[in-house]
Amino acid sequence: MNQFEIKRLVDKAYDKAELNKEEITSLLAADINQLDYLLQKADQKRKEICEDEVHLRAIIEFSNYCRRNCYYCGLRKDNQHLQRYQLKKEEIIKTAQMAAELGYQTVVLQSGEDEYPTAQITEIIKEIKNTTGMAITLSLGERDFAAYKLWREAGADRYLLKHETADQRLYEKYHPGMSFENRIESLKYLKKIGYQIGSGVIIDLPGQTPEILAEDLLLSQKLELDMIGSGPFIPHEKTPLAESKTGTVEMTLKFTALSRLLLPLAHIPATTALGTIDVEGRQKALMAGANVVMPNVTDSQYREKYQIYPGKICINEEAGDCRQCIGGIIASLGRFVSQNKGHSLRK
Ligand code: SAM
Ligand code: SF4
Ligand code: FES
Repeated sequence: MNQFEIKRLVDKAYDKAELNKEEITSLLAADINQLDYLLQKADQKRKEICEDEVHLRAIIEFSNYCRRNCYYCGLRKDNQHLQRYQLKKEEIIKTAQMAAELGYQTVVLQSGEDEYPTAQITEIIKEIKNTTGMAITLSLGERDFAAYKLWREAGADRYLLKHETADQRLYEKYHPGMSFENRIESLKYLKKIGYQIGSGVIIDLPGQTPEILAEDLLLSQKLELDMIGSGPFIPHEKTPLAESKTGTVEMTLKFTALSRLLLPLAHIPATTALGTIDVEGRQKALMAGANVVMPNVTDSQYREKYQIYPGKICINEEAGDCRQCIGGIIASLGRFVSQNKGHSLRK
């Protein structure tokens, strides 16, 4: 594709937040060296919509038990080399309160698809809300619809459930026993009952093509996502995809930039996975459309056991270290940490 054609497509995306599948595919397939203009326009759109404000979401990885066997993930049930842990209700609440003291306005409760009792999660949500007032995001995988409803009523604000890939065949290949349809129905239901929904993809899963990633963006528009994330695939040696190639920074940045142009009002995280494959990865994403970072606040004794992929950053740090580190990164880019909860920009 020549520079003239790239400029035409990027300008169209910038002006109308609209491109068709072929147009998105051709941008995703183009060499990153040709795409300065794409990254620059995504940054400009981010500035128009979010100004220089960056939202922090403190993540508590409270259990690494998982009943699923996703082909790419180190927490998968069949990985017997992992020592499993599960934080008690009181520990989770205490960690959230510590995050609030560090100034965080949102806490993300994340785990494998553990069967953590629904009623206990309800109590945790209520207690965190009552004592800190923080926004609460749940990232617990798929649960029954009645549980989603209960937790929403208890005060949970957001639900993060990546659709991982919009290609049903690839989805079902890498998620044995799971259904793509249920994933999408869950997201629609969560939105319907009032959650702000976050989803997104793994970039460069084996077998994924630019056409499929274009479908991912079109699906994300259709779902009216409040947040869209993309992290590169990182092979884990105790999984069936151990021998596959690591995803690229370039494709992740192209996807991030197109996410900003095609879903201008979405929150977009600079992901930990991108920061893992490139020390400057999160900075690069923040300059290509991203406006969110999700620092870890999990107690350091558990961090190395939540290795969804190898080399994950921040394993030896404490919550306060990460808060300080992220503050420095954001300031170095001339941006600032938001003082509000960073709710959906769609409302
Ligand atoms: N169990 C919940 C779920 O699957 O939705 C939440 C936790 S799961 C560890 C969070 C995300 O980690 C997944 O949505 C997936 O995209 C990402 N992930 C897992 N393994 C990965 C890998 N090897 N490389 C990159 N991302 C990975
Ligand atoms: Fe479990 Fe989530 Fe990992 Fe899949 S991605 S194995 S559901 S923790
Ligand atoms: Fe954890 Fe930088 S964010 S050390």
